[in-house]
Amino acid sequence: MVKTLEADWYIDSEIYARERDRIFLPSWWLMGPSHLVSNPGDYLCDRICGWPVFVLRSQDGILRAFLNICRHRGSTLLKEGLGVGINSVRCPYHGWLYDDHGRLQNTPRFGEDLGDEKNSLSLHKIEVHVWNGLVFVKTARDKGVGFEEWLGEVSGLCADFPGPSSLDYYGEFTVEGELNWKTYCDNTVEGYHLNLIHPRLGKALAGRDVQLFSVNDGRSVAFDVTHGASGGAREARGAKGLWVYHFPGLQLVLGDKIFKAERVESKSTNHVRSVNWSWYGKLDDAAKQEAFDWGKQIVEEDFGICTEVTRNLRAGVFTPGPLSPSMEKHVARFQQIVKDILLDGE
Ligand code: FES
Ligand SMILES: [Fe+2]
Repeated sequence: MVKTLEADWYIDSEIYARERDRIFLPSWWLMGPSHLVSNPGDYLCDRICGWPVFVLRSQDGILRAFLNICRHRGSTLLKEGLGVGINSVRCPYHGWLYDDHGRLQNTPRFGEDLGDEKNSLSLHKIEVHVWNGLVFVKTARDKGVGFEEWLGEVSGLCADFPGPSSLDYYGEFTVEGELNWKTYCDNTVEGYHLNLIHPRLGKALAGRDVQLFSVNDGRSVAFDVTHGASGGAREARGAKGLWVYHFPGLQLVLGDKIFKAERVESKSTNHVRSVNWSWYGKLDDAAKQEAFDWGKQIVEEDFGICTEVTRNLRAGVFTPGPLSPSMEKHVARFQQIVKDILLDGE
């Protein structure tokens, strides 16, 4: 019987450093909805897995992405969040000025002419891609694959459902907690916990065989969340629904009247942040708020149990348990993918 990973995999700082380098750095990460940066001068700034990044719609209409770090002595440039109406970026520390292509323009009172060196002090560009109304970034320019290759078969799964362009944007919520990112992913790719951890969801799906399947060689796991007629949530989601996990930190909820995108990012061995954006179809406001609150409740329920698991894995007395071949085969595959990446070359 396949067993779950040893507790060290969830605790050890060297393993974590390798995860950051080999898994997080080359991956694409959801930055947020693209409608938030639709006009020249709009920007969106955040820390993803600890990396300070921003995307900016330049005056020429092109969306560019940069590290949010000044090339002088490393100050943060833009405050985290959304902004509008900028055509340059001034560092708040000593006032260096960059244009909206990231080129260094001005170094006030520096005292020396930087000459040609100025051209090599542009902001560090990172990769950016817009797909299905969502902005994605990749911090490593020399690692990983292009966006389409990274997303693989997930785009085909989404093609059967409406996306942000045909639904109304509703809002965003964030959940943070003291857990290891892999406990959340282990949990995400099995339906075994569903009835006990999400009793309301379990009831809504009652009487149905919950079907999970994987694509992209196990890097993406999808879960049929079509609700039974008696669940009360059918109105909000429509007749069919699919929930999708894509390695390492993207989740999507797809339905006839709902689209939710979630970024699950790791801040340390023991800290995860989940940022969620929701869109709905023609529903009254109360139904939208209800669906939004329920979506948040599900993430909080998962964070709750994964926090408990992480605490126990860190307690130093856990011994690996068996994984169910029928209920937890995607957990086994997820853990194998992590191991393969981290142990490659050894
Ligand atoms: S750190 Fe930005 S101008 Fe000095
Ligand atoms: Fe769950």
